[in-house]
Amino acid sequence: MEPTPFVGPDLTTPNPTRIYDYSLGGAHNVAADRTVGDAIIAATRNGRQVARANRDFMRRAVRHCLTDGVTQFLDLGSGIPSVGNVHEIAKAADPSSRVVYVDNEAVAVSQTRAVLAGVDRTAMVQADLRNAAAVLEAAETRGLIDFDRPVALMTVAVLHYLGHEEDVLAVLAPYHRLLAPGSYFVVSHATADGREEEAAAVAARFEATTHQIHYRSRTEVRELFGGFSLVDPGVVWTSEWRPDDDSDDDTPPSDSACWAGVGRLD
Ligand SMILES: C[S@@+](CC[C@H](N)C(=O)[O-])C[C@H]1O[C@@H](n2cnc3c(N)ncnc32)[C@H](O)[C@@H]1O
Repeated sequence: MEPTPFVGPDLTTPNPTRIYDYSLGGAHNVAADRTVGDAIIAATRNGRQVARANRDFMRRAVRHCLTDGVTQFLDLGSGIPSVGNVHEIAKAADPSSRVVYVDNEAVAVSQTRAVLAGVDRTAMVQADLRNAAAVLEAAETRGLIDFDRPVALMTVAVLHYLGHEEDVLAVLAPYHRLLAPGSYFVVSHATADGREEEAAAVAARFEATTHQIHYRSRTEVRELFGGFSLVDPGVVWTSEWRPDDDSDDDTPPSDSACWAGVGRLD
């Protein structure tokens, strides 16, 4: 019998998942990622701040859902584990919280599974979020998430990997349809608004990677919240979304380069 060829992660082509990990100071990246990561950081006014501001927004959004009693999280495009993962924030507030992570990148999946070993009521599903059936019918999702109760559906820094030819709302519809009243929809999304030149330079760097980046405007991001009531302050720069009282971040909000919002299903 022929040996099965080894299919591992491609470590020669830069990969945005690992580049994001590099921006956050993580260790799950290789030289090819760091070269493009440095070029992206250099092309951006406040380089590493983009990833940090996004991650901080995610933390605040998760806490907001928890304070409203939502303890189930379905995190699409969850990435490589880093400081302040959704399950850590959720379980610190309520140990019975349930978290299902979803990503289609091997490195994100294997690292997340390693981090989750022994952490109850958490799971990692390897799937493309466009394939909602694969996500929603996965044994892990069915076993952990009760859609009769409110769920926080997280799409943080992931929808900009869907092309402009794709109907993002149609991709999300099977998830949205399942959500019970009181559920949340959390979004952050890269934009070129007010930073067209810089955004074009960053997009050009992405060309060398496995994924392209597709910017959307504030209006387009707002439209993603169709049936949801936007929680104050609406769709704003990630760093402007309910900043912590003790925040000493004096970076111009637009340097966070992503729009962010949280919607609630009434
Ligand atoms: C920039 S990271 C964001 C990670 C995390 N959500 C955060 O904000 O810290 C984007 C992640 O989305 C994943 N991703 C991109 N397209 C995806 C798709 N179609 N289905 C599932 N995951 C996807 C990538 O593999 C990557 O891990």
